[in-house]
Amino acid sequence: MAIESTGPNAEQISHWNGTFGQRWVELQEMLDAQIEPLGRTAQERARISQGEHVLDVGCGCGQSSLQIAKRVGTSGHVLGVDLSEPMLARAIERASGFEQASFEHADAQLFEFRASDFDLVYSRFGVMFFADPPAAFANLRRALKPGGRLAFVCWQTASQNQWILIPMLAIAQHVPLPPPPEPGTPGPMSLADTDHTRDILETAGFEDVAFEDRTGELSIGGGASLDATADFLMRMGPASRALGDVSEQQQQAARAAVREALAPFASDAGIKMTGSCWIVTARSPR
Ligand SMILES: C[S@@+](CC[C@H](N)C(=O)[O-])C[C@H]1O[C@@H](n2cnc3c(N)ncnc32)[C@H](O)[C@@H]1O
Repeated sequence: MAIESTGPNAEQISHWNGTFGQRWVELQEMLDAQIEPLGRTAQERARISQGEHVLDVGCGCGQSSLQIAKRVGTSGHVLGVDLSEPMLARAIERASGFEQASFEHADAQLFEFRASDFDLVYSRFGVMFFADPPAAFANLRRALKPGGRLAFVCWQTASQNQWILIPMLAIAQHVPLPPPPEPGTPGPMSLADTDHTRDILETAGFEDVAFEDRTGELSIGGGASLDATADFLMRMGPASRALGDVSEQQQQAARAAVREALAPFASDAGIKMTGSCWIVTARSPR
């Protein structure tokens, strides 16, 4: 498998094929456990039936592709597409034995999918990283049959996500954080503003765009201990980029601050904090 490290999403290609993509593979079980309920809600809203053809965009290590494979059954098909080689390798390994699942190492913004091929375009947190979101969503819409559905889950703002905000504020006591991304640039919260996202989707040709607020308790790091969850957030959280080039002393101070900030949220079942995302649904015109 090879993907050109050029083009509009070159920065994301390098990010998800480098250390960060490798960390997703290492921490895949904790990540899956934390976000599985959110992806499952989006699958339920998508009303997936047996025999359908589904495109899973930014499928990563493949948990949602496998869940969809079970929902569509052997008479259906799921295609997982991702630009991260290490993550996709994990997905392919996990999907062994599922004939109805296949994977493509590609940039979903540019890949020439067969036109009118899919009943559903689905994504669990994989559609917030496009350099040109209207072009990318238009490309995905062309892959849908007339009347085909779009369903994805994306994060709301950092201030609406305790599990992002609290560790970030703790780390900021010891390490200067990078400036927040410019509005409209690729990143985990790039689709948080519903007016902006509606505009993108309507420009891309979608109809019946709807947003469901999914706010609730999340099991951070999938129910791991306080120490393991502090380490997890230091490596994966949105502030993790700030920790790349700092001294060992600053790292240790930041970690201790994150641990202390998480302690009030500890329970017998791990660290529980509030998270807010949008379940977004839309339809291609008939
Ligand atoms: C936050 S991760 C989510 C992974 C997976 N869906 C999950 O829930 O575990 C985002 C994923 O989107 C992928 N991605 C980002 N931009 C992409 C693009 N233009 N085309 C295909 N995949 C992309 C990344 O490589 C990464 O695997």
